[in-house]
This record gives sequence, structure tokens and C-alpha cells, in this order.
Amino acid sequence: MNIVVGVTGGIAAYKTVHLVRLLTKAGHEVTVIPTEDALRFVGLPTWEAISRHPVTTSVHDDVARVRHVALGQAAELMIVAPATANTIAKMTAGLADDLLGTTLLATTAPVVIAPAMHTEMWQHPATQANIQTLRERGIHVVGPAEGELAGGDTGAGRMSEPEEIAAEALRFVGGSRDLEGLRVVVSAGGTREPIDPVRFLGNRSSGRQGVALAAEAAARGAEVELVAAHIGTDVLAAARHPNIHVQNAGTAAELSSVMKDAAANADVLIMAAAVADYRPAEAATQKLTKESGRLASIELVENEDIVAALAAARADGNAPDGQVIVAFAAETLRDAGERRERARRKRERKGVDLLAVNLADAEHGFERAENAVEIIGAEGVVVASAEGSKREVAAAIWDAVAALRG
Ligand code: CTP
Repeated sequence: MNIVVGVTGGIAAYKTVHLVRLLTKAGHEVTVIPTEDALRFVGLPTWEAISRHPVTTSVHDDVARVRHVALGQAAELMIVAPATANTIAKMTAGLADDLLGTTLLATTAPVVIAPAMHTEMWQHPATQANIQTLRERGIHVVGPAEGELAGGDTGAGRMSEPEEIAAEALRFVGGSRDLEGLRVVVSAGGTREPIDPVRFLGNRSSGRQGVALAAEAAARGAEVELVAAHIGTDVLAAARHPNIHVQNAGTAAELSSVMKDAAANADVLIMAAAVADYRPAEAATQKLTKESGRLASIELVENEDIVAALAAARADGNAPDGQVIVAFAAETLRDAGERRERARRKRERKGVDLLAVNLADAEHGFERAENAVEIIGAEGVVVASAEGSKREVAAAIWDAVAALRG
């Protein structure tokens, strides 16, 4: 992979030498773009020797090749480490007064930054607002870690270790590009069905598994539509990627309509959202009071089974050829055999290709970082199982989808 590593003026620049070494040793072509200030910490010969490529800070060198555009266009990944408060501010404003600035503007590759600065500078509202803006643009932020800082004080602001930056950056872009060109739609989160203007029927889904599925797909090259039902901004932050487009849907009815529109052009549909099976027959327009007596029991009506409807539309020929549909099932049954049996019936009933069954107990599932799934395919065969972080589980699900599409 062609990787551009931007280095800005902080003492942590010495650690970036090791980062460049890790990336080149892993077989990547690395071009280093230091800022003038960075060269006060680590000199140009070091960067050239370690990357085995010529290094310059200026847009006026190698003008014939329009270097500032060429580097950005050729990059498949850009890492800025360390990213100082000043550089973060410049990136937010889109300033392009040196080669790093112009390259960052010219690239469409994923960008990962590893901030490093004193705790006060990191916590300053200006820096925090800039970081927020960069995240919203799809830039992935690694660290900073807590630890000893250059002045001898300790706190948040220390650049993450090179190993961690390399691993996170490569995970962000994905090792494999096996989903390149695929249009995928992932629903995530949990629907809320209004009872009255202040109350709803909801569930405990945080959206983490669906967000991990979206992030993994984007990293592997897919164009992702993430349909988000009440996902917290902290969880949604992990889905910031240039190839992920987010649409919100609040209720089962809204989710159904967004999914059906998106399905018409989708190669893969994954329904990871926890959809309310029932909704109040009527959502009161005024807040219900105890006095009214209408709160003691609420009449419910069944919601459409969205994923089953999507599978039925496909069966009627209203979907791109080869469309793959994946559903989820949350189970609290501890017995693996019983769980599998229920899952087999559910997969058949819904007409989906794969059903990812997750164990929703105290250690796994809802509101947790860890998950465990078994993936049931045609004829009820367990095609894969995975346990670990939601990202690892997401990777296993995409592997199963990729295998199915051949
Ligand atoms: N689903 C859906 N539309 C619904 C309900 C569920 O599309 N109205 C989807 C979910 O997104 C998920 C799968 O169907 O992919 C879950 O199936 P569901 O029948 O709700 O199973 P469980 O939640 O496991 O509950 P139960 O077995 O009790 O029905």
C-alpha cells in the first residue's frame, strides 16, 4: 500500500521514525512529508534513510510532477504523527501553506492522525472543537494516550505508541479490499415507538455491532449506507469514514421506508438494528397522565417484519442480482443446540441468506464491547462462529458474506 506519513513539529517525531520503519517492514511504500518544524526534531536524512524515498517539505520541489497533488492522489492511506495542536487547527481550516497541507487537501484516501501535545492544549475547547470537526469529516483519531509528557508532567496528550498507530491505521483502511465496489446497507441501533410526546417503547441496542459492521465494510472497500436508529454520537464516531453515509431512522416504520429505498441498489443488506416487534396502536399527541387512566395498559399492534419484507422483495425480483441479506437474532437461551434450532427456523421464516445469532447475556451482546455469534447459512449449516470485539465479529460476518458472493 502507498502510505504518506506526515510528521509535524513535536518531540514525539522521534517515535514516528519507528512508525515509518514498522510500515516499511510490513511491505508498504512510505513517503514521509515533514513540516519545517518537524525537521527541528528529526532531520531530513533520517526520514530519507528510513523511508528510502526522497523527502521534501516544500511544494516548490519537483514541480514538474506536481508533487503536492501527485502524492495525495497516489496515497492509499495518510497518517499524521505526531499531529500538533497547530497542525490539527490548520487541517480543520483547510490551510495549505506547505507540502503536507496541500497533500492533505489533495487526497481522497483515509486519513489517520495521532495527536501529541500538552494536556492543557489537548483539552482546550479550540482543539477539542477542531478534533470534533475532523472526526465528522471521517478522519480517524488515534490517542492521545495518558502518560509522561515532554515537560516532565503527566496527563492526556502523549502520542500513542507506533505499534498502536500502525495497527489502528491499517485496521481503519482494512487489510483486504475484498468488498471493493460493493454497495452495502447496514441498519443499526434500536427503534423507538412513540407512546406519547415524551415516552416510547425501546430496547437496549447501542448500535455498536452495526457500526462495527459499517466500519469494517468501508475499510474493506465497500460503499456503505448506515441506517442509524438512535445511536449515541460516541458510538457513531467509529463510523466516520469517507465511504460511510449515515441516514437516521427513528421508528420501525421509518426504518422500513429507508431500508426499502436503499435496498433497491444494494448488493448486501445487513439488518443489525433491533426493531420493535410491536408499536402502540396510537401515539397520543398530548402527554398521557396517570389521571387519564390511559397509561396502565397500552394497546399494541404488530410492526412489519422489515427484513422478511426485504427478502420477499428480492424473491419477487425487485433487487440487484446476487443480493445477499443478513439478519440478526438475539438469544438468551444458554443451550447452544436449542439456540441453533431456533435460529434455523428463524432464518427459513425470514427468507434470509445468513442469520447471525448472538448470545445476549450479561457478558455478551447489548451495550457491551464484546460479542459472540454463530452464523447460520443455507440448510441451517453453521458457516462460521466468532467471539471477541464487535469489530472482530463484524469481520467474520463480512467473510461469510464474501464467501457467499464467491
Ligand atoms: N427485524 C425486522 N423487522 C422487525 C423485527 C425484526 O427486520 N419488525 C429483524 C432484525 O433487524 C433482526 C431480526 O429481524 O435482523 C431479528 O428477528 P426477530 O424476529 O425480531 O427475532 P428476535 O429479536 O430474536 O426475537 P423473537 O425470536 O422473539 O421474535
